Amino acid sequence: MNPGIHKVEALGDFVRVEWEDGSESRYPCVWLRDSCRCPRCFLSSAGARKLLLEDLDVDIVVKEVTLAGREKISIIWPDEHASEFEAEWLKKRCFSEAARAEMREELFLPEREYWGSDLQLPKMPFEEIMHNDESTYKWLCTLKKVGIVLLTGAAAQQGELVRLGQRIGFLRLTFYGPTWQVQDKADANNVAYTTGRLCFHTDYPVLQHPPGVQFLHCIKQTAEGGESEVVDGFYVSNKLKAQSPQAYQILTSTAVDYTDVGVDYCEFAVQCKQRIIDVDSRGQAVRINYNNATRDSVLDVPADSVRPFYAALKEFDDLLNSAEHKFTYKLKPGDIVTFDNWRVLHGRRRFQSGSEVSRHLEGAYGDWDVVMSRLRLLRKRVLNKD
Ligand SMILES: [Fe+2]
Ligand SMILES: [Zn+2]
Repeated sequence: MNPGIHKVEALGDFVRVEWEDGSESRYPCVWLRDSCRCPRCFLSSAGARKLLLEDLDVDIVVKEVTLAGREKISIIWPDEHASEFEAEWLKKRCFSEAARAEMREELFLPEREYWGSDLQLPKMPFEEIMHNDESTYKWLCTLKKVGIVLLTGAAAQQGELVRLGQRIGFLRLTFYGPTWQVQDKADANNVAYTTGRLCFHTDYPVLQHPPGVQFLHCIKQTAEGGESEVVDGFYVSNKLKAQSPQAYQILTSTAVDYTDVGVDYCEFAVQCKQRIIDVDSRGQAVRINYNNATRDSVLDVPADSVRPFYAALKEFDDLLNSAEHKFTYKLKPGDIVTFDNWRVLHGRRRFQSGSEVSRHLEGAYGDWDVVMSRLRLLRKRVLNKD
């Protein structure tokens, strides 16, 4: 049932709408003028604003506002320009705290669920995800909420990640290629391409915009060792903040240099500054940028700040590695682990090298923009929402 409007009136530089349920909303005139949906102001084929900001008067007030039936308001502006707004469209864009929170949830989806060693690793069949919209929707929702989902039953051969990429849209190309092969290599150009233990890290903080999601497809698994470890970086960041505000302050403010130089897909010399824990304007952790292998020996801080930085990093690393926080599992051939590379840090235990390749994973990256876009489209289809 669409919301009905009981009454509408101009009130200074606001338009006040009284809804049939007794609630009210106030819309600033400048925002209404800016949001005019008429063909002169809005290109509906692109869903985009045509009105130029230079033609917008920030002090504008309505000349006249009237109710057109119970589901529409009409506005005449001082220059006789006319705008119409649908009740439902207005209701969604109400400026109250509650309405804005609802809109945030609709556009960016549910709150995180934190976890430690008690993680119940979400599992879903790969082929179902490839063919059923509802399953794909559930996969991406869980990926966003929990940060990790294991897909099972893929073929134990290269190429499945390309198919998975096509399912969401496209994969993210990096200097390591469209997909990359994690196995023991002679003269490895990356520490991942050895048999050694990898401590908790996020991939590729040396890029200005690190890949948002990571896919690792197990094609061959070694009998001894090679277990995977994951930890919820956002959960641990909260723990650090509570336990040691000083360390948290250092890791959220110090710009750390990362470096990666070599040849793979093409020649590269990448360099970047990142904070180990990125926070948003509300102070909530939004991205972990931590990879000890590519952290540069160039450290652009005063000498006196160096030891406190290491102490803070060590404290964070200790928390990541504590038994209460980390979750260990072992990939089987045909498994594809998908995880939030901005949130979940991953590592692996060492394994034996032999004369032939004993362990082989194919890896690929995706971007959150692509994943979230697919998620919104699927939700519309699955929940039949508009
Ligand atoms: Fe990695
Ligand atoms: Zn207009």
